[in-house]
Amino acid sequence: MRGLACLLTLAGLASAQQQQPLSAPRKPNVVFILTDDQDAHLDSLDYMPFVQKHLIDKGTHYRSHYCTTSVCCPSRVTLWTGKLAHNTNVTDVNPPYGGYPKFISQGFNENYLPVWLQEAQYNTYYTGKLFNVHTVDNYDRPFAAGFTGSDFLLDPFTYDYLNSTFQRDRETPRSYEGEYTTDVLAQKANRLLDEAVDAQKPFFLTIAPIAPHSNVFMDGTGLDDNPVFSFSAPIPAKRHENLFKEVQVPRTPSFNPDRPSGANWIKTLKRQNETNVEYNDHFYRTRLRALQAVDEMVDGIFARLQLHNILDNTYVIYSSDNGYHIGQHRLQPGKSCGYEEDINIPLIVRGPGIAENATTDIVTTHTDLAPTFLQLLGIPLRPDFDGDPIPLTQDQIEDVRDERQEHVTVEYWGFAAGEGIYDFDLSAYNNTYKALRIKGEGYNLYYSVWCNNEHELYDMTTDLYQLHNLLSTEDKEQLPSHNILDTDLTKLVPRLDSLLLVLKSCKGQVCVKPWKALHPHDEVLTLKDALHARHDNFYEMEQTTRVRFEECARGYILDVEGPQFDERKMIFRDGLPWYEWI
Ligand SMILES: *[C@@H]1O[C@H](CO)[C@@H](O)[C@H](O)[C@H]1NC(C)=O
Ligand SMILES: *[C@@H]1O[C@H](CO)[C@@H](O)[C@H](O)[C@H]1NC(C)=O
Ligand SMILES: *[C@@H]1O[C@H](CO)[C@@H](O)[C@H](O)[C@H]1NC(C)=O
Ligand SMILES: *[C@@H]1O[C@H](CO)[C@@H](O)[C@H](O)[C@H]1NC(C)=O
Ligand SMILES: *[C@@H]1O[C@H](CO)[C@@H](O)[C@H](O)[C@H]1NC(C)=O
Repeated sequence: MRGLACLLTLAGLASAQQQQPLSAPRKPNVVFILTDDQDAHLDSLDYMPFVQKHLIDKGTHYRSHYCTTSVCCPSRVTLWTGKLAHNTNVTDVNPPYGGYPKFISQGFNENYLPVWLQEAQYNTYYTGKLFNVHTVDNYDRPFAAGFTGSDFLLDPFTYDYLNSTFQRDRETPRSYEGEYTTDVLAQKANRLLDEAVDAQKPFFLTIAPIAPHSNVFMDGTGLDDNPVFSFSAPIPAKRHENLFKEVQVPRTPSFNPDRPSGANWIKTLKRQNETNVEYNDHFYRTRLRALQAVDEMVDGIFARLQLHNILDNTYVIYSSDNGYHIGQHRLQPGKSCGYEEDINIPLIVRGPGIAENATTDIVTTHTDLAPTFLQLLGIPLRPDFDGDPIPLTQDQIEDVRDERQEHVTVEYWGFAAGEGIYDFDLSAYNNTYKALRIKGEGYNLYYSVWCNNEHELYDMTTDLYQLHNLLSTEDKEQLPSHNILDTDLTKLVPRLDSLLLVLKSCKGQVCVKPWKALHPHDEVLTLKDALHARHDNFYEMEQTTRVRFEECARGYILDVEGPQFDERKMIFRDGLPWYEWI
């Protein structure tokens, strides 16, 4: 069905072009703005008037957009390759499991979006942070491939708001000691945009500021296994440092709750005292202040697009690598968790044919972005994408409403670093888990299995803030009586677990249509379909393999990841799972 939708969409675009023979078809440009650690749940977008004016009011806001691994480097590699982290095996920020060296050794420098765009005759430009452990020592071993023009922030100065180092094209790195990082970046973005326009070719420009990430001082370049990082609150530009003095982290029910919540190390966290809460409010304000320079930069980019007279032929896309929490579930400032604050992130798209001032709740993820960009620019999709193009126009969104995937694969390996001053919980080093987020008519759920084999299930229809784990082993021997779609948990949980079993090792279209792997001969497309009583026997007697870990590892070590879904049940064509649309 999805395959067919793709074909129809492409055919639709082709006939639209045929209807306008008078104007030479101009290939569109893309400006992609990628912030760092920006939340969708702590209201950060509400404090960005230019993002509101140019993007939210003039574009479509995807409110159910998710990252799949809630930390910078793995999430960015997923975004640029269209593959889930278990298929990139870039699962951490630092070597041996992640960082720029792992991106290189996995062969992605020859095989990621900028390279594909160049092959399709697009000019490609990038400024800002690319990956972690992309450093003053290794930036040329090798250079990041695929860019017509680039100006990268490099470690160990990437997150140093007042002492950044950038590295342009093939030149040696240059320090901007004392200058404000986002303002330096804005100038570089403007220069690259001018270059792109001068070249008179369609272009894809990425602008990746570090705000609102915390300020990080790194001792060493991060190339060794155990670099020493010291985190502090983000640093705003001088002109913004006194803003929002009265503002506090939203006091939602999950903010520093009376009772512990979550599972594993999270449920052992102590309630934060007043000093700690005040510090976290301060931390929150500094994030909003640091975003002001990004907001101004966005305004500047739109002014320049207008000046060059290309705004009507340019898509501007705004997102972040992962979300952020401050105080929810008693957590110190940070990311790396599977809760909604960390995985649900901004995605706003503006451009020709995109509805203005519109929102949608269709489920989309970072694995969908590379396919989306290729489709948008009329470039054939790759066979091994783990995601599907995101429908962009109102008609496309309407068309897929009933058949679009309803799940998000969520995965994480390694540690969770708190970034405030009141850390550091060593047990957070065992932060490996698999999870899924699923939203459909009549259900809204988060299910997780941790590496210590604790389970979580939140019914977000009744427990939006994920405070009542229905699978907590604390005070119950049995599953509590709780119904979802008139089904009790003894029937629901095996379905969710089987879905997760498929998703944790899925490849290609299996990741988009995982129920097909479980029901190759049945029309099961949703959790609702799978819950039908005629499948009870299958989930009770046949598909009894459960997601489980042997131990907690810091990377994707197959030996400890427990049983794997029997891949023989998947449908393969020419050795590849479902590449129907090619
Ligand atoms: C956007 O839509 C909302 C209602 O959906 C409306 O209140 C608001 O004025 C609109 N904003 C703009 C800039 O059109
Ligand atoms: C700023 O960075 C440069 C290297 O790029 C370094 O030599 C210098 O010591 C740094 N300054 C501060 C104040 O950290
Ligand atoms: C508040 O909590 C922090 C972090 O646990 C602790 O370091 C500090 O001593 C506490 N302050 C007071 C006044 O209890
Ligand atoms: C982390 O997990 C490992 C392997 O499962 C275990 O040996 C270790 O005790 C755990 N550490 C903590 C602090 O829970
Ligand atoms: C992922 O990479 C790590 C580190 O190189 C390696 O030990 C592990 O076996 C790899 N996992 C898989 C599934 O290939």
